[in-house]
Amino acid sequence: MRPSQVFYKVCREEMKVEKVQQISHHVFVILLAATVRSQVNPEMCRYPLGMTGGQIQDEDISASSQLDSDNGDGDGAWCPDIMSDDLKEYLQVDLRSLHFITLVGTQGRHADGMGNEFAQRYRIKYSRDGNNWVGWHDRKGRQVIEGNRNAYDVVLKDLEPPIIARFVRFMPVTDHSMIVCMRVELYGCEWLDGLMSYSIPDGHQMIYRGLDVYFNDSVYDGASAERLTKGLGQLTDGTWGLDDFLHSHIYSMWPGYDYVGWNNKSFPKGYVETIFEFDHVRNFTSMKVHCNNMFSRGVRMFRQASCYFRSGSDWESDPVTFRPTVDRVSQSARFVTVPLGDRTASAIKCRFHFSDLWMLFSEVAFQSGDDPTHKVDDSNTRILIGCLVAIIAILLAIIVIILWRQVWQKMLEKASRRILDDELTARLAVQTQAFSSHHSSLSSEASSTTNSTYERIFPLCADYQEPSRLIRKLPEFAQSTEHLGPSTSCRALATSGSDSAPHYAEADIISLQESSDGSTYSITAVNMNLFAGTDSSMREFPRQKLTFKEKLGEGQFGEV
Ligand SMILES: *[C@@H]1O[C@H](CO)[C@@H](O)[C@H](O)[C@H]1NC(C)=O
Ligand SMILES: *[C@@H]1O[C@H](CO)[C@@H](O)[C@H](O)[C@H]1NC(C)=O
Repeated sequence: MRPSQVFYKVCREEMKVEKVQQISHHVFVILLAATVRSQVNPEMCRYPLGMTGGQIQDEDISASSQLDSDNGDGDGAWCPDIMSDDLKEYLQVDLRSLHFITLVGTQGRHADGMGNEFAQRYRIKYSRDGNNWVGWHDRKGRQVIEGNRNAYDVVLKDLEPPIIARFVRFMPVTDHSMIVCMRVELYGCEWLDGLMSYSIPDGHQMIYRGLDVYFNDSVYDGASAERLTKGLGQLTDGTWGLDDFLHSHIYSMWPGYDYVGWNNKSFPKGYVETIFEFDHVRNFTSMKVHCNNMFSRGVRMFRQASCYFRSGSDWESDPVTFRPTVDRVSQSARFVTVPLGDRTASAIKCRFHFSDLWMLFSEVAFQSGDDPTHKVDDSNTRILIGCLVAIIAILLAIIVIILWRQVWQKMLEKASRRILDDELTARLAVQTQAFSSHHSSLSSEASSTTNSTYERIFPLCADYQEPSRLIRKLPEFAQSTEHLGPSTSCRALATSGSDSAPHYAEADIISLQESSDGSTYSITAVNMNLFAGTDSSMREFPRQKLTFKEKLGEGQFGEV
């Protein structure tokens, strides 16, 4: 087994949390893909690029040499063979496509306490095409990165400026006194622009009120002569300039640092020519150019952009020309979107025309659909979309089932209620007359009070048998309900009071029903008093003898 494979295993376990983040990132990207496929945001673009997601295959990792390939303890790391002075040893990762890399992580070899090898310092080299290699350095020109101080901690380092590359090499810097082992992880996101390089005239120097303001492309990684060629730099570093070009996002840099800018004196034709080369033929929808517009200092956005396209060896003759409305009101820096008319090309040449003394750009980004000949591996995306669709389908199914159940319950309730009502009406109709004459001796205000209380407390029971009818017909009701079946509780209650006077029976009904729920006891007492308070012959049905048969429903004050 190669050390890289072992390393994978370890890292894939260690970084599960980040995998979740990555998935949420993917979801986020899918949801917003239509609107956000523009310039990279370095603060968002910090996802592990291979060791956890499995995007980097073992064959995409190579090394100049290895000392300790696999000693059987499964804690492998890359340990270079001979430590030569001239930084020949490297561990190389191929990301298979261009990536925007904002962060690197390194770790030594711990091997459960057996290993104690790590890289204290290292350098990074990168390449976009696999041929031209560039040594990374920070914004102040420092190439060496401080690495690990022990064998177990993962040390993360921000890459400022970030790297846009397909290949990355880690090169330990050693002092020959110790063996070095490294495990690495890269963080970032895919570079959707597909830009391999841009070529521009280098920026100029402005003297503003005695202050030197430099608009050179200070992080350009290609060749610098009269023109900058074969590299990327500040226009693609994900840092957008401020409204006031004298200030910078980056601490302790010279005035004008965020911008690349030109003075019109050096361009007699009135425009600056820029050339952008891409990884393959693409279908371009638009280009976004971040421009300063501080016209009070002679800086303005371009007044015209003419873009030429090239798929093969020659530039096509018909350009796409775009004239933005030059803002003469607001001095804020802004992205100007240049539509590129879905032109197909692998290179674009744009001429930006001055509208003032100075023209300053801090970022250029391209939006393109891929050429049909280019196959993008979007299997992960498909799986994710599939999962999302499945989740939505399951949720919909659950909602439908819940609604269906509610509809069914309502239908069943209505049906059973109707049956009961019919039966009751039929059975009780005969005796209505007799009871009502007997009952008329009861005080009318008492019965009316009961009615309302009764309805309020036992809405369902009241539903089953209309209270007024019940009160009038209680003795008979007691017997007739024996046959009713479903309304068990009402039947039980009524039976208990069957041989008492009608009003006692009703008091019993209330008390028994109440006693099934302690929380409404006080109301019971009121009702009891109302009917039976003065009559000591009223019998209470022992609660423990009550058998629960069926739940009729729930009301405002509890269960029936
Ligand atoms: C840009 O200008 C600054 C300030 O003069 C200088 O230090 C730096 O080396 C220049 N960078 C490039 C790439 O020319
Ligand atoms: C540069 O721009 C200024 C302001 O718009 C204009 O007056 C001047 O003629 C321009 N110079 C050249 C060489 O185009």
